[in-house]
Amino acid sequence: MNHLPLVTPDRQHHFDTICQGLHQRGWAVVPDFLVQEQWQPLLLRARAIDHYQLAGVGRGDNLQHNDSVRISLIHWLNDNHAIDRSWLCVMEELRLCLNRSLFLGLFEFEAHYACYPPGAFYKRHLDAFKGTNNRIVSTVFYLNPDWGDDDGGNLAIYPEQTHQAMGGVIEVQPKAGTLVVFLSEDIPHEVLKTIKTRYSIAGWFRINPSIFGNLDPPG
Ligand code: OGA
Ligand code: MN
Repeated sequence: MNHLPLVTPDRQHHFDTICQGLHQRGWAVVPDFLVQEQWQPLLLRARAIDHYQLAGVGRGDNLQHNDSVRISLIHWLNDNHAIDRSWLCVMEELRLCLNRSLFLGLFEFEAHYACYPPGAFYKRHLDAFKGTNNRIVSTVFYLNPDWGDDDGGNLAIYPEQTHQAMGGVIEVQPKAGTLVVFLSEDIPHEVLKTIKTRYSIAGWFRINPSIFGNLDPPG
Protein backbone atom coordinates (compact mmCIF):
# COMPACT_ATOMS: atom_id res chain seq x y z
CA MET A 1 0.00 0.00 0.00
CA ASN A 2 1.12 3.48 -0.74
CA HIS A 3 0.58 5.87 2.16
CA LEU A 4 1.02 9.59 1.93
CA PRO A 5 3.03 10.87 4.91
CA LEU A 6 0.73 11.75 7.79
CA VAL A 7 0.43 15.41 8.63
CA THR A 8 0.05 15.95 12.39
CA PRO A 9 -3.13 17.75 13.56
CA ASP A 10 -1.08 20.76 14.73
CA ARG A 11 0.59 21.10 11.41
CA GLN A 12 -2.69 20.63 9.56
CA HIS A 13 -4.10 23.48 11.63
CA HIS A 14 -1.18 25.70 10.54
CA PHE A 15 -1.68 24.68 6.93
CA ASP A 16 -5.37 25.59 7.16
CA THR A 17 -4.41 29.04 8.52
CA ILE A 18 -2.03 29.50 5.58
CA CYS A 19 -4.57 28.43 2.94
CA GLN A 20 -7.23 30.66 4.41
CA GLY A 21 -4.85 33.66 4.60
CA LEU A 22 -3.63 33.24 1.03
CA HIS A 23 -7.18 32.89 -0.22
CA GLN A 24 -8.66 35.82 1.71
CA ARG A 25 -5.88 38.41 1.60
CA GLY A 26 -2.81 36.99 -0.12
CA TRP A 27 -0.65 36.45 2.95
CA ALA A 28 -0.49 34.57 6.26
CA VAL A 29 1.70 34.69 9.36
CA VAL A 30 2.07 31.59 11.56
CA PRO A 31 3.95 32.05 14.86
CA ASP A 32 5.38 28.82 16.30
CA PHE A 33 5.06 26.95 13.04
CA LEU A 34 7.93 24.82 14.39
CA VAL A 35 8.82 24.29 18.05
CA GLN A 36 12.31 24.94 19.36
CA GLU A 37 13.55 21.34 19.04
CA GLN A 38 12.61 21.58 15.37
CA TRP A 39 14.01 25.02 14.49
CA GLN A 40 17.20 24.78 16.59
CA PRO A 41 19.05 22.50 14.12
CA LEU A 42 18.12 24.84 11.26
CA LEU A 43 19.51 27.80 13.20
CA LEU A 44 22.75 25.95 14.02
CA ARG A 45 23.09 25.04 10.36
CA ALA A 46 22.44 28.63 9.22
CA ARG A 47 25.05 29.92 11.67
CA ALA A 48 27.60 27.30 10.64
CA ILE A 49 27.55 28.01 6.89
CA ASP A 50 30.89 29.61 6.09
CA HIS A 51 30.42 30.29 2.40
CA TYR A 52 27.41 32.56 2.13
CA GLN A 53 27.31 34.52 -1.10
CA LEU A 54 26.28 38.09 -1.60
CA ALA A 55 22.75 38.08 -3.00
CA GLY A 56 22.05 39.83 -6.28
CA VAL A 57 18.96 41.47 -7.70
CA GLY A 58 17.67 40.35 -11.10
CA ARG A 59 18.14 37.30 -13.27
CA GLY A 60 20.82 36.34 -15.76
CA ASP A 61 22.08 39.41 -17.61
CA ASN A 62 20.27 41.63 -15.18
CA LEU A 63 22.01 40.17 -12.16
CA GLN A 64 23.49 43.02 -10.18
CA HIS A 65 24.85 43.48 -6.75
CA ASN A 66 23.02 46.62 -5.90
CA ASP A 67 23.71 47.81 -2.38
CA SER A 68 20.97 50.41 -2.54
CA VAL A 69 18.27 47.73 -2.90
CA ARG A 70 19.51 44.74 -1.01
CA ILE A 71 22.28 43.66 1.29
CA SER A 72 22.08 40.03 2.34
CA LEU A 73 24.07 36.82 2.20
CA ILE A 74 22.50 33.62 0.89
CA HIS A 75 23.14 29.89 0.62
CA TRP A 76 20.82 27.53 -1.30
CA LEU A 77 19.39 24.50 0.52
CA ASN A 78 20.57 21.16 -0.75
CA ASP A 79 18.47 18.01 -0.77
CA ASN A 80 21.54 15.93 0.10
CA HIS A 81 22.03 17.68 3.41
CA ALA A 82 19.93 16.05 6.18
CA ILE A 83 19.02 19.30 7.95
CA ASP A 84 18.18 21.12 4.73
CA ARG A 85 16.08 18.13 3.72
CA SER A 86 14.08 18.32 6.96
CA TRP A 87 12.86 21.79 5.93
CA LEU A 88 12.31 20.77 2.30
CA CYS A 89 10.13 17.87 3.53
CA VAL A 90 7.92 20.17 5.58
CA MET A 91 7.56 22.46 2.58
CA GLU A 92 6.66 19.46 0.44
CA GLU A 93 3.77 18.78 2.83
CA LEU A 94 2.73 22.41 2.47
CA ARG A 95 2.99 22.21 -1.33
CA LEU A 96 0.61 19.25 -1.46
CA CYS A 97 -1.78 21.00 0.89
CA LEU A 98 -1.78 24.23 -1.16
CA ASN A 99 -2.42 22.29 -4.34
CA ARG A 100 -5.28 20.35 -2.77
CA SER A 101 -6.94 23.38 -1.17
CA LEU A 102 -6.27 26.20 -3.60
CA PHE A 103 -5.61 24.30 -6.85
CA LEU A 104 -2.39 26.22 -7.41
CA GLY A 105 -0.59 23.51 -9.39
CA LEU A 106 2.68 24.20 -7.58
CA PHE A 107 5.39 22.05 -9.06
CA GLU A 108 8.61 22.56 -7.15
CA PHE A 109 10.20 24.43 -4.27
CA GLU A 110 13.55 26.16 -3.93
CA ALA A 111 14.92 27.87 -0.85
CA HIS A 112 17.97 29.60 0.53
CA TYR A 113 19.27 30.49 3.96
CA ALA A 114 19.71 34.20 4.30
CA CYS A 115 21.95 36.07 6.70
CA TYR A 116 21.40 39.79 7.12
CA PRO A 117 24.39 41.23 9.00
CA PRO A 118 23.86 44.35 11.14
CA GLY A 119 22.86 47.25 8.88
CA ALA A 120 21.47 44.99 6.12
CA PHE A 121 18.03 45.40 4.54
CA TYR A 122 16.02 44.56 1.42
CA LYS A 123 13.98 47.45 0.05
CA ARG A 124 10.32 47.08 -0.91
CA HIS A 125 9.92 44.59 -3.76
CA LEU A 126 7.81 41.83 -5.31
CA ASP A 127 9.27 38.32 -5.59
CA ALA A 128 7.77 37.84 -9.07
CA PHE A 129 6.34 39.97 -11.84
CA LYS A 130 3.14 38.85 -13.49
CA GLY A 131 3.78 36.64 -16.49
CA THR A 132 7.56 36.79 -16.34
CA ASN A 133 8.37 34.47 -13.48
CA ASN A 134 7.06 31.15 -12.33
CA ARG A 135 7.27 31.92 -8.63
CA ILE A 136 3.77 31.76 -7.23
CA VAL A 137 4.00 31.45 -3.45
CA SER A 138 6.81 32.83 -1.24
CA THR A 139 7.72 31.54 2.21
CA VAL A 140 10.00 33.02 4.87
CA PHE A 141 10.86 31.09 8.01
CA TYR A 142 12.68 32.90 10.81
CA LEU A 143 15.46 31.54 13.00
CA ASN A 144 16.19 34.27 15.55
CA PRO A 145 15.68 33.52 19.26
CA ASP A 146 15.14 36.47 21.61
CA TRP A 147 14.32 39.07 18.98
CA GLY A 148 13.31 42.35 20.61
CA ASP A 149 11.47 45.50 19.55
CA ASP A 150 14.75 47.42 19.24
CA ASP A 151 16.51 44.88 17.04
CA GLY A 152 15.06 46.14 13.72
CA GLY A 153 14.89 43.68 10.84
CA ASN A 154 11.10 43.41 10.74
CA LEU A 155 9.40 42.17 7.60
CA ALA A 156 6.98 44.86 6.37
CA ILE A 157 4.08 43.49 4.33
CA TYR A 158 2.17 45.93 2.12
CA PRO A 159 -1.27 44.43 1.59
CA GLU A 160 -2.93 44.61 -1.81
CA GLN A 161 -4.75 47.85 -2.58
CA THR A 162 -8.17 46.35 -2.02
CA HIS A 163 -7.22 45.30 1.48
CA GLN A 164 -5.28 48.37 2.54
CA ALA A 165 -8.31 49.99 4.14
CA MET A 166 -8.35 47.02 6.47
CA GLY A 167 -5.19 47.96 8.32
CA GLY A 168 -2.24 49.28 6.29
CA VAL A 169 1.29 47.96 6.63
CA ILE A 170 1.86 44.82 8.69
CA GLU A 171 5.19 44.33 10.46
CA VAL A 172 6.39 40.88 11.46
CA GLN A 173 9.31 40.32 13.83
CA PRO A 174 11.76 37.68 12.54
CA LYS A 175 11.31 35.51 15.64
CA ALA A 176 12.45 31.89 15.60
CA GLY A 177 9.60 29.58 14.65
CA THR A 178 7.51 32.13 12.72
CA LEU A 179 6.56 31.30 9.13
CA VAL A 180 5.26 33.91 6.67
CA VAL A 181 3.64 32.85 3.39
CA PHE A 182 2.40 35.18 0.64
CA LEU A 183 1.55 35.38 -3.05
CA SER A 184 4.78 36.21 -4.87
CA GLU A 185 3.22 38.35 -7.61
CA ASP A 186 0.80 40.29 -5.44
CA ILE A 187 2.34 41.20 -2.12
CA PRO A 188 5.05 43.89 -1.95
CA HIS A 189 7.26 43.50 1.11
CA GLU A 190 10.46 44.83 2.60
CA VAL A 191 13.10 43.82 5.12
CA LEU A 192 13.68 46.83 7.38
CA LYS A 193 17.26 47.56 8.37
CA THR A 194 18.40 45.08 10.97
CA ILE A 195 20.42 45.96 14.04
CA LYS A 196 21.37 42.38 14.97
CA THR A 197 22.45 39.57 12.66
CA ARG A 198 19.24 38.07 11.27
CA TYR A 199 18.83 34.51 9.94
CA SER A 200 15.97 33.14 7.84
CA ILE A 201 15.07 30.61 5.17
CA ALA A 202 13.33 32.18 2.17
CA GLY A 203 11.65 29.85 -0.31
CA TRP A 204 9.47 29.86 -3.40
CA PHE A 205 6.98 27.45 -4.88
CA ARG A 206 7.03 27.46 -8.67
CA ILE A 207 4.58 26.26 -11.27
CA ASN A 208 7.24 25.04 -13.71
CA PRO A 209 10.64 23.44 -13.39
CA SER A 210 13.30 26.12 -13.51
CA ILE A 211 14.83 26.47 -16.96
CA PHE A 212 17.45 28.90 -15.74
CA GLY A 213 19.02 26.92 -12.92
CA ASN A 214 20.01 28.74 -9.76
CA LEU A 215 20.96 32.06 -11.29
CA ASP A 216 20.13 33.85 -8.09
CA PRO A 217 16.73 35.18 -9.06
CA PRO A 218 15.23 38.11 -7.21
CA GLY A 219 13.72 37.51 -3.82
C1 OGA B 1 13.32 37.71 0.09
C2 OGA B 1 12.62 38.38 1.19
C3 OGA B 1 12.10 38.48 3.52
C4 OGA B 1 12.68 38.23 4.86
O1 OGA B 1 14.31 37.01 0.34
O2 OGA B 1 12.86 37.88 -1.06
O3 OGA B 1 11.79 39.20 0.90
O4 OGA B 1 12.01 38.59 5.84
N1 OGA B 1 12.89 38.01 2.45
O5 OGA B 1 13.79 37.69 4.97
MN1 MN C 1 11.11 38.98 -1.15
